[in-house]
Amino acid sequence: MSERWTPASWRGRPARHIPSDYPDPAAVARVEDELRRMPPLVFAGEARRLKSLLGDVAAGKAFLLQGGDCAESFKEFSADNIRDTFRLILQMAVVLTFAGGKPVVKVGRMAGQFAKPRSEPIETIDGVTLPSYRGDNINGMEFEAATRAPDPERLLKAYAQSASTLNLLRAFAGGGYADLHNIHRWTLGFVDGSPQGARYAELTDKISEALTFMGAIGVTPQSHPGLHQVEFFTCHEALLLGFEEAMTRVDSTSGDWYDVSAHLLWIGERTRQLDGAHIEFMRGIQNPIGLKVGPTLEPDELLALIDTLNPDDEPGRLTLYGRFGSDKIAARLPALMRATRAAGRQVVWAIDPMHGNTLKASNGYKTRPFDRILSEVRSFVEIAQAEGVHPGGVHLEMTGQNVTECIGGARALSEGDLADRYHTHCDPRLNGEQALELAFLVAEKLKAGRTADVTQAAE
Ligand code: PEP
Ligand code: CO
Repeated sequence: MSERWTPASWRGRPARHIPSDYPDPAAVARVEDELRRMPPLVFAGEARRLKSLLGDVAAGKAFLLQGGDCAESFKEFSADNIRDTFRLILQMAVVLTFAGGKPVVKVGRMAGQFAKPRSEPIETIDGVTLPSYRGDNINGMEFEAATRAPDPERLLKAYAQSASTLNLLRAFAGGGYADLHNIHRWTLGFVDGSPQGARYAELTDKISEALTFMGAIGVTPQSHPGLHQVEFFTCHEALLLGFEEAMTRVDSTSGDWYDVSAHLLWIGERTRQLDGAHIEFMRGIQNPIGLKVGPTLEPDELLALIDTLNPDDEPGRLTLYGRFGSDKIAARLPALMRATRAAGRQVVWAIDPMHGNTLKASNGYKTRPFDRILSEVRSFVEIAQAEGVHPGGVHLEMTGQNVTECIGGARALSEGDLADRYHTHCDPRLNGEQALELAFLVAEKLKAGRTADVTQAAE
């Protein structure tokens, strides 16, 4: 791994889950050239800012909230969808900040999360076999030979959609929508009458009261612009390395290489081979990066990956997302946390409670039981606290839409309900109500931990 890194050095390594069956490879090269000339989606200074905030998370001083669609799609692209996921993240952050007493770093799995690694490269329906759907920036979901063929022009459309998504997110984050005084207005219509909605309203009443008091003593959005806006970042899985390479530029301020397609990029569970293309690409960019950590990863291999991805032990550079499954986390996570702790490595430990808890319902829908998701989050916090590690954050697949994709939750969605509003382009997401319920659970856990810290310090 010590050979010279370039944005293209990954091309000399085995690459998994990158399509190699484009009908016209010359067209791929043409599109990549065009992307190379496109403006950056984010500024390197913003990526450095996120890295520094994640450094605070690594030090136990903040909490990471990362979430959005499993896969963004061209069809579901709308201002309402973007706004609803954004405001759900704001609501969850309020719940977590209030209980945890620590700042929440907000990162949307948005504005670039299109490509999906698939367990099966092909799909057979009624005796017809076609390539699997791999995300809207590669091919289309419709089960037709022409739609399933990879088309590089889709990368340009995904770039354009990411740019408009980011534009709107920036407007919401800085333009007054996210002003803490609007806290009551962030509630999504369908969550309003639910138990979670009522809990949220109780909380916002308390915060509004505090804001009125603060306003009376002169702390206003004018004197403290932080009350009027939020810092909001974007992320996606760095799967299509041709696209990521084209978006990787030298930052004129620092002279370093940044992948300017998003603030944070992560490496998926299926592409984390030490000698593979994805690790090679990611080791050279200076963005904050993430690594999915699943049930087959052994402590030695994790430490080797950390050495490669964060050789200088820079705080905030590397976030580990455990994704074991509620039935495996207790057997797998403690040894991994012990290893990073014993080696004194500065990493953020977070949990993705989605990808280890997927199953097929009896009616064929891919779903996730909400109680298993909650159970994995609960175990994560308890294990981290027992191992003396900061439970640093959550990484969720969720949407502000009122979908029926995960079973359970306060409204006890059943397998029979899945057909009602199942819109995901890949994995089942939490709906607004379920996501808020999860935020309350994490908040309670963090609060219990905080009380325990205070008690210990007093002893
Ligand atoms: C994902 O986050 O959508 C994903 C595919 O996760 P993992 O790589 O952990 O399976
Ligand atoms: Co997914």
